[in-house]
Amino acid sequence: MEGGAELLFYVNGRKVTEKNVDPETMLLPYLRKKLRLTGTKYGCGGGGCGACTVMISRYNPITKKIRHYPANACLTPICSLYGAAVTTVEGIGSTKTRIHPVQERIAKCHGTQCGFCTPGMVMSLYTLLRNHPEPTLTQLNDALGGNLCRCTGYRPIINACKTFCKTSGCCQSKENGVCCLDQGINGLPEFEEGNETSLKLFSEEEFLPLDPTQELIFPPELMTMAEKKTQKTRIFGSDRMTWISPVTLKELLEAKVKYPQAPVVMGNTSVGPDMKFKGIFHPVIISPDRIEELSVVNYTDNGLTLGAAVSLAEVKDILANVTRKLPEEKTQMYHALLKHLETLAGPQIRNMASLGGHIVSRHPDSDLNPLLAVGNCTLNLLSKEGRRQIPLNEQFLRKCPSADLKPEEILISVNIPYSRKWEFVSAFRQAQRQQNALAIVNSGMRVCFGKGDGIIRELSIAYGGVGPTTILANNSCQKLIGRPWNEEMLDAACRLILDEVSLPGSAPGGRVEFKRTLIVSFLFKFYLEVSQILKGMDPVHYPSLASKNESALEDLHSRHYWSTLKYQNADPKQLSQDPVGHPIMHLSGIKHATGEAVYCDDMPVVDRELFLTFVTSSRAHAKIVSIDVSAALSLPGVVDILTGEHLPSITTTFDFLTDADQLLSTDEVSCVGQLVCAVIADSEVQARRAAQQVKIVYQDLEPVILTIEEAIQNKSFFEPERKLEYGNVDEAFKVVDQILEGEIHMGGQEHFYMETQSMLVVPKGEDREIDVYVSAQFPKYIQDITASVLKVSANKVMCHVKRVGGAFGGKVTKTGVLAAITAFAANKHGRPVRCILERGEDILITGGRHPYLGKYKAGFMNDGRILALDMEHYNNAGAFLDESLFVIEMGLLKLENAYKFPNLRCRGWACRTNLPSNTALRGFGFPQAGLITEACITEVAAKCGLPPEKVRMINMYKEIDQTPYKQEINTKNLTQCWKECMATSSYTLRKAAVEKFNSENYWKKKGLAMVPLKYPIGLGSVAAGQAAALVHIYLDGSVLVTHGGIEMGQGVHTKMIQAQAAFNESISLSATGYFRGYESNINWETGEGHPFEYFVYGAACSEVEIDCLTGAHKNIRTDIVMDVGYSINPALDVGQIEGAFIQGMGLYTIEELNYSPQGVLYTRGPNQYKIPAICDIPMELHISFLPPSENSNTLYSSKGLGESGIFLGCSVFFAIHDAIRAARQERGLPGPLRLNSPLTPEKIRMACEDKFTKMIPRDEPGSYVPWSVPI
Ligand SMILES: Cc1cc2nc3c(=O)[nH]c(=O)nc-3n(C[C@H](O)[C@H](O)[C@H](O)COP(=O)(O)OP(=O)(O)OC[C@H]3O[C@@H](n4cnc5c(N)ncnc54)[C@H](O)[C@@H]3O)c2cc1C
Ligand code: FES
Ligand code: FES
Repeated sequence: MEGGAELLFYVNGRKVTEKNVDPETMLLPYLRKKLRLTGTKYGCGGGGCGACTVMISRYNPITKKIRHYPANACLTPICSLYGAAVTTVEGIGSTKTRIHPVQERIAKCHGTQCGFCTPGMVMSLYTLLRNHPEPTLTQLNDALGGNLCRCTGYRPIINACKTFCKTSGCCQSKENGVCCLDQGINGLPEFEEGNETSLKLFSEEEFLPLDPTQELIFPPELMTMAEKKTQKTRIFGSDRMTWISPVTLKELLEAKVKYPQAPVVMGNTSVGPDMKFKGIFHPVIISPDRIEELSVVNYTDNGLTLGAAVSLAEVKDILANVTRKLPEEKTQMYHALLKHLETLAGPQIRNMASLGGHIVSRHPDSDLNPLLAVGNCTLNLLSKEGRRQIPLNEQFLRKCPSADLKPEEILISVNIPYSRKWEFVSAFRQAQRQQNALAIVNSGMRVCFGKGDGIIRELSIAYGGVGPTTILANNSCQKLIGRPWNEEMLDAACRLILDEVSLPGSAPGGRVEFKRTLIVSFLFKFYLEVSQILKGMDPVHYPSLASKNESALEDLHSRHYWSTLKYQNADPKQLSQDPVGHPIMHLSGIKHATGEAVYCDDMPVVDRELFLTFVTSSRAHAKIVSIDVSAALSLPGVVDILTGEHLPSITTTFDFLTDADQLLSTDEVSCVGQLVCAVIADSEVQARRAAQQVKIVYQDLEPVILTIEEAIQNKSFFEPERKLEYGNVDEAFKVVDQILEGEIHMGGQEHFYMETQSMLVVPKGEDREIDVYVSAQFPKYIQDITASVLKVSANKVMCHVKRVGGAFGGKVTKTGVLAAITAFAANKHGRPVRCILERGEDILITGGRHPYLGKYKAGFMNDGRILALDMEHYNNAGAFLDESLFVIEMGLLKLENAYKFPNLRCRGWACRTNLPSNTALRGFGFPQAGLITEACITEVAAKCGLPPEKVRMINMYKEIDQTPYKQEINTKNLTQCWKECMATSSYTLRKAAVEKFNSENYWKKKGLAMVPLKYPIGLGSVAAGQAAALVHIYLDGSVLVTHGGIEMGQGVHTKMIQAQAAFNESISLSATGYFRGYESNINWETGEGHPFEYFVYGAACSEVEIDCLTGAHKNIRTDIVMDVGYSINPALDVGQIEGAFIQGMGLYTIEELNYSPQGVLYTRGPNQYKIPAICDIPMELHISFLPPSENSNTLYSSKGLGESGIFLGCSVFFAIHDAIRAARQERGLPGPLRLNSPLTPEKIRMACEDKFTKMIPRDEPGSYVPWSVPI
């Protein structure tokens, strides 16, 4: 073995050598901090977001092939890169040399908003093109499956990618022989481009062609090195960790004897996250490098042998190949494995992770282990003692010592036998999101009949997600052997398995009843699948499937994405050089795509810079007995630890925004995640290590209030209660035909901006001036609170916000507090201080959208007219006020959405609970208030026996009208949007088609729903709407526009420049502009006012399909019609609408925050909290703008579109609602249906009640402590 080896790899064609490498360093910080390649971004650090995607290339001297694959730099230890070539976004193109076609097209197709996800997207696409220069759409969708974007809604990114496909623009679907471009997919008319309208936001003609010969070549030096193969084991070491890379099997075994406890790291996708998030530390790591025996692929007489080091992506390719070549009866297991490999993680993880690592990790939710375990697979092990084989069975999965690897043993390969005639294998899984999400429950099932008599000879069933490891139902299977494959067997099997695979009510991961239901639902699917095959093989002896069951077998409707857009052309009378009205690319688009756009943490280290991190409360409500910082302070590099005693109390002109007088708690904590200490050290690593050493002793306090219901019981509210009343509600209730009372609970939402909270504070060294570089939406507040903490005047504090990598409301108040503390530290030490939150800290500390409870009492006529509505809104504000009351107010002022309720009373309370305080999030109360109203309307419709869209229409505002706060309103465009949406979506025709589908499919249901939108713009105060701009024209003709808008992806600078350019010829060289704000007021005493200047109108229609057995849903199509006034930039406006729509869809369907009964947030990263990914967007998306008609006094008669689109996502919620209603009706469960938000797979499945939901055991409430509480 060779100690103190030199690490050698290439980055972007340049050789990198490291003599003293720290094995704990991952590629991401190495690229960003050491090589200053900041294009690759940090989004989560755990492989879940794709922001850090790079391409890794390796040369295989045996096959003489170069393998290019995408990888997450955040989980790639640099020591694993010996001999590899890394390509980052900077390596493929730049504005200084030549931009790459991928970069150009993503930018020019408007695939960037905040731009933070863009380098990762670019690298995923680039790697795909390196391997497949003319990819298919399926390959494209797969390639982007591991990349999240919170802004765009993916449609423009997909459109950019499609330009590389041979048949770009086409859905490539030939269903019924018809291509989408020939005809609307539903056989319906689509938009036509007219003289005044346009359908395209970019022109392909100007794109650079993709020329594969222009790409960076694989470094010849690395090829030579690989060919020579004379290397010896390499050892890299630091004080804490030793990294051993053996290059031969013999050396590997020797290392394993010497360090039996050391993990064998292959992809590091299991060990890495464990070290990072669970604090598991390994002083020694063994990481084999290109050992041939571990990479074997052997086809034997009995099956396939795959080396332990073969990556999951390679396994996928190998199996796809085998299944094409071999007869189906031999490849049952391979088909099943392939099915799971398609959805397992994203391509980055699949390319990094190894089969051996996957098997040996034995994750409880492993997708492959349940299959391998039922498939009689064997593991080939090797140690210095010799070879042996062990079965991959239940004992192995349970880590029973007698059935496990010995510490000094290595897994060499895995045998996966061929299936035999009359043997069938199936795979099932259900996750919160269809792709790149760990399964909630998964399963592998195998049955063998021996011969064609249908008598079970072998049966093996395994489940993941239902216990601490993969669970096999061996006893049940044993009892079923010898039985014929029929319904009685199924019935017995369900009961036996439910008994054997029993889940306690308090099982970790929660969703216990859902999991129990999935256990039997999957079994039912397996039963049907096998029955159908048997029937196909021997139609005489086996009965046909009952036709009602056929739909259980089909996969959810799946097709390639297709979209159309229709917007108005710019005014033809406009000057040709006037850019207003044109779809101009985001000003920073190209810089986003090349990685040159500088975000806060991309700024280089400043001389003597320190890093600050926080210690937060681990208790929901407790007295702080003591804080012991001595151990932490004694660690190397630690400079200071601040507690509340050091920081002065603060006052700002925005007092209501600050959570507490004290920025750090000293005496008491009121939620988990509350800031207690700030640790300042020379480096991030040192600061974080020290933070773990701070010891806080708590004494728990009562009460701990977490849920809205608990707050109501304890009367725990922030003052004052808000109320709005219009007409005479009590009198109206006396005259109505019917009255209903109901309630709906709506969960919160995490902002999930891709760039976490980031700031760098630099004292200037004179006159107490200080520079604050920060990712924030509201620099004025940062300036204010910083000045207050430093006890200096505001003019000493200069806030710099170049751009923000997504914010959505989350970078207003919380950022202020973090920045103030960071500034205090910087000022105290006279040194620059950087503070960048990790994803988990960010989600924990900063709160999000308010969960809501809405109670309603509606009085209505039998024709659907709602005459009286009495509502109560409660939001879960968390421990401090923040903007919660304001959110309640906005919710009340906007709750009537598009409807005129002649008698309306609504009251609202912000509930004080022991959770991190919630704050602004896109839509600001409206997405919750609107949903409550729409839920009420849907229930009224059910009571009246009318379609919901009819009741919506009947109650809609009639043109000139009055709002509940007595503001005049003209809703002509609302009606217009509704009508257009009805027409473009062919609502009536499709409603009939949905009904037909539902009558023919028992286990799959479709739903269709349309919702209107009236979104008021304004903040109820003139001051909040003011704005100023300063324009300088320089003598060379260049122009500088300074304005108060923050660029956070919405393209405000782009629009400003479009507007400014129009004025070029008639302004002086320097000018200021000031807008005092719209007339805006509301009197809460009288409930009257003019809080809003204007309204955005729209309508959205969505269609979904659900799987009643698993709770999965697919978004089939969405049509959106919006009244945007005159669009200054249609590309940016479409981007805001669709991006918000997808965010809203996530809010109402899959985004679910889970809290423990002790108030601890579980969902702290993309691996637990699922925002929409590319698989979630509607297969068809059609967006159109109304022709501009309104002449308002807004800038260029344009409208603010950032927030409204969120609400349109609830069309998907109500479409799912509609589908569930259809399922329930068919199952004899008519009547009103109340469903809470988000409508997750769990809620969908449990609402589609059937014999399986009835069969599962239920726990008495109160008889167990649930894993999570709905807050
Ligand atoms: C973001 C993300 C998403 C994921 N999504 C999914 C998913 O949807 N479904 C799913 O099933 N899984 C999922 N996973 C888990 C993933 O499949 C596993 O982490 C991966 O397969 C482990 O492989 P690895 O090579 O990276 O293992 P490593 O982390 O390198 O090693 C894991 C363990 O295996 C041992 N080991 C490895 N090779 C050998 C060997 N040859 N001999 C002896 N011991 C060995 C090591 O000692 C170590 O203990 C996900 C992981 C991440 C990070
Ligand atoms: S930062 Fe690496 S995947 Fe999120
Ligand atoms: S543009 Fe994708 S996260 Fe902002």
